[in-house]
Amino acid sequence: MSENNTIKKSTNTVWQVMSINRDERELLQGHRSFLVWFTGLSGSGKSTMIYAVEEKLYKLGYRTFALDGDNVRHGLCADLGFSHSDRIENIRRVGEAAKLLTQAGVIVLAAFISPFRADRQKVRNLMAAGDFIEVFCDCSLEICESRDAKGLYKKAREGEIRDFTGISSPYEKPEHPDLILKTGENTIDVCVGMVMEKIKSRLQVADAIKVGLTEF
Ligand code: ADX
Repeated sequence: MSENNTIKKSTNTVWQVMSINRDERELLQGHRSFLVWFTGLSGSGKSTMIYAVEEKLYKLGYRTFALDGDNVRHGLCADLGFSHSDRIENIRRVGEAAKLLTQAGVIVLAAFISPFRADRQKVRNLMAAGDFIEVFCDCSLEICESRDAKGLYKKAREGEIRDFTGISSPYEKPEHPDLILKTGENTIDVCVGMVMEKIKSRLQVADAIKVGLTEF
């Protein structure tokens, strides 16, 4: 077993040191990379937030990538369902993917229910200190269920979907998130503004080679 509870089956492998490291990539592109992790119930606004923040950053000239639970489950994690062990594996894979993207110099915006604290902590541990920013989309079950944009809460209540977060599967709220967004009460613009304010100080590389990034 490795540190993150996965059985490491690949033996006889030797870690190769990259010739261009992350600091060098960040210097070239003029901004730092990190992972902003949005957690919350289905329908709490996580996907809305990652795409809205990404659009804002993109227009300002930052390199970003959005990882969304629904999308990732069409490919990288298509073999996983919603049992406890499958959710653990889902978050483990996505955490590793996000880490690779940050090593490539990209600001990663991730939207996953990620209902278990221990799994979110494992992703935090994967990242360098301060490079995991946990954003809790704090929206009540009542509001998420009343939105029911995908019709899944109705199906879950009718027993058509098992292990549905908030109905028949638990959600463990973050105890010390880096940011709480009241996505049931505040507008998208207000929430985006709060995220931008939170990440502002992490964006700049002091001696950036590239110039011309738009200030905000
Ligand atoms: S996680 O729990 O493993 O983090 P993830 O964020 O990847 O979940 O996927 C959640 C999305 O899958 C939801 O937004 C919803 O559209 C869909 N979904 C389908 N079945 C379930 C279920 N049983 N519980 C939660 N979400 C589900």
